[in-house]
Amino acid sequence: MAKLKLGILGSGKGSNFRSIADAIKVGALDAEVGVVISDVETAGILSLARERKMRAEFVAPGKFKTKLEPEAEERILTLLREAGVELVVLAGWMRMIKAPLLDAFPRRIINIHPSLLPAFPGLEAWKQALVAGATETGCTVHYVDTGMDTGEVLAQSRVPIFPSDTPEELHARIQNAEHELYPAVIGEFARGLK
Ligand code: GAR
Repeated sequence: MAKLKLGILGSGKGSNFRSIADAIKVGALDAEVGVVISDVETAGILSLARERKMRAEFVAPGKFKTKLEPEAEERILTLLREAGVELVVLAGWMRMIKAPLLDAFPRRIINIHPSLLPAFPGLEAWKQALVAGATETGCTVHYVDTGMDTGEVLAQSRVPIFPSDTPEELHARIQNAEHELYPAVIGEFARGLK
């Protein structure tokens, strides 16, 4: 049977991408990476993909901070189609996604977010949790829709917050949970359960 083809979009260091690629490598996740795309030319996720001899593409996002120019979104769509991508995986992707991408992949674009949504959407959610005095946070995998971190929740993982936590310590604890949760949820898509 053909493996589920992933297109992975990320803007940062790429640790979630690495956890997915590693799960595939050890046979824990029956999928393959068709293309890795970043809106940041120097992003670690592109270097990690190139080290693994995967197709890795930088797409210049244009002049906006939080969204893509239409040309960039079209370019991403072309790259995903060329690679035969079936599931679009946002892994540390920091821009809003709009039509035509959402329309081209209905219920086939997912995101991971470092909080228990709907709590703490938006940037640096682990810092928001600390400032709010929460005693627990976590991570959420959800479908992507037109809102910011508003799509239907697929799965969550809980993480304790300790009084002594620095933002870095808390984010690292959340990321450990992310690295377990994201490959597991993608596995459900690969097995046709979603
Ligand atoms: C992850 O913690 C992810 O949840 C977060 O960015 C980090 C990327 O890390 N995403 C968001 O905040 C999206 N709103 P990575 O580049 O090491 O995977």
